[in-house]
Amino acid sequence: MTRLLIRDLCQVVSPAGRTAPLRGPALRELEVVERAYVLCDNGRIEALGRMRDLRFADDVQELDGRGLCAIPGLVDCHTHAAFCGDRVEEFALRAGGASYEELHAAGGGILSTVRATRSGTEADVSRAVARHAKAMLRAGTTTFESKSGYGLDRETELASLRAIRAAGGVATWLGAHAVPPEHRDADAYLDFVLMEVLPEAAGIAEAADVFLERGAFDAVQARRYLEACRAAGLQLRLHGDQFTESGAVPLAIELGARSVDHLEATGEGGVRALATSDVVGVMLPASALFLGRPMPPGRAFVDAGAAVALATDFNPGSSFCESLPLVCSLAATQLKLSPAEALSACTVNAAHVLGRAGRKGRLAVGFDADLCLLDAPDWRYLAYHLGGDEVAAVIRDGTISWSRGAY
Ligand code: NIG
Ligand code: FE
Repeated sequence: MTRLLIRDLCQVVSPAGRTAPLRGPALRELEVVERAYVLCDNGRIEALGRMRDLRFADDVQELDGRGLCAIPGLVDCHTHAAFCGDRVEEFALRAGGASYEELHAAGGGILSTVRATRSGTEADVSRAVARHAKAMLRAGTTTFESKSGYGLDRETELASLRAIRAAGGVATWLGAHAVPPEHRDADAYLDFVLMEVLPEAAGIAEAADVFLERGAFDAVQARRYLEACRAAGLQLRLHGDQFTESGAVPLAIELGARSVDHLEATGEGGVRALATSDVVGVMLPASALFLGRPMPPGRAFVDAGAAVALATDFNPGSSFCESLPLVCSLAATQLKLSPAEALSACTVNAAHVLGRAGRKGRLAVGFDADLCLLDAPDWRYLAYHLGGDEVAAVIRDGTISWSRGAY
């Protein structure tokens, strides 16, 4: 494999240190090298530093980094990319005043995407995940997680997990997303998935996730699902406190979950509890924006010392958005995180949620050569330019995976 030298960069920026997850003041500490280069070899970062310290490297492909800033390839640790169809009708109804929860209770919402996904073939689901992964890549995401959860039957759940893996994603089994109509109630549905789907899902996915919320699964049902998944070797994640505080934070802490995600409804007690735990709070401000809901208390989480991450929650119903740069803008303007805190939250801390912080989420020697190159004089344009288009090229495993054309 040829080596890739990116030279004459304005800045190379990375979360500082080597530990993960970052919290408190460490979340905003960055290593910034001005007028810099990055040398990639065999998919890893071989060297980086100031241009004036660059020694001649032979047998390299060169990329002219003039006018560009390098940050770690972004890590999207929470998406729902395995779906067919869309929810544009529902979007229009919501714009006219209908609520997301009412549409869900009336059999629309998540269940309408379940109908569309079940009616597709595995090839359809695979094509959809690949298309969504491409859109994420163009927005600077080099590592993405995706959940299943729009099948809710054996065949479609397993096909979704395989499609996510085939597209290069980290697969999470969201077997407890909603109760499909062929089951009497949530308990009967859990009897089915834990018996019929979990054994095979555990061989494909890395983690399990549950939607703990009124109208979905309660804390007793969530505990049953998660304990069975943990026993099958899966890491644990939870959708919690999206609309109501229903016990997701204490359950996540008790079970040693990797993360609890959403947190728009989390109060002071939940903030304090999460801050003194090892569970990462994953905030999804694009989802709150898309649904017109309150934002999660981001500043309070960071000030209390919680380990936080940011993700898109990309899905057809509550966040039709693949862009982590937009999420960083929302983090700065709505959650009151600094651009540095936002960067750490969607790189190193997101990588930690996915169990990959030893290799991804930082620009440092020995780490995977995943870089996002921004066409900007200062890397903070990432958050500053609302809806901007700064991502000029994306390097994954040391090769240019996408570029605007000039590189
Ligand atoms: O994270 N809240 C539950 N699940 C998704 C939305 C799924 C959908 O609306 O299709 C979420 O927002
Ligand atoms: Fe989600």
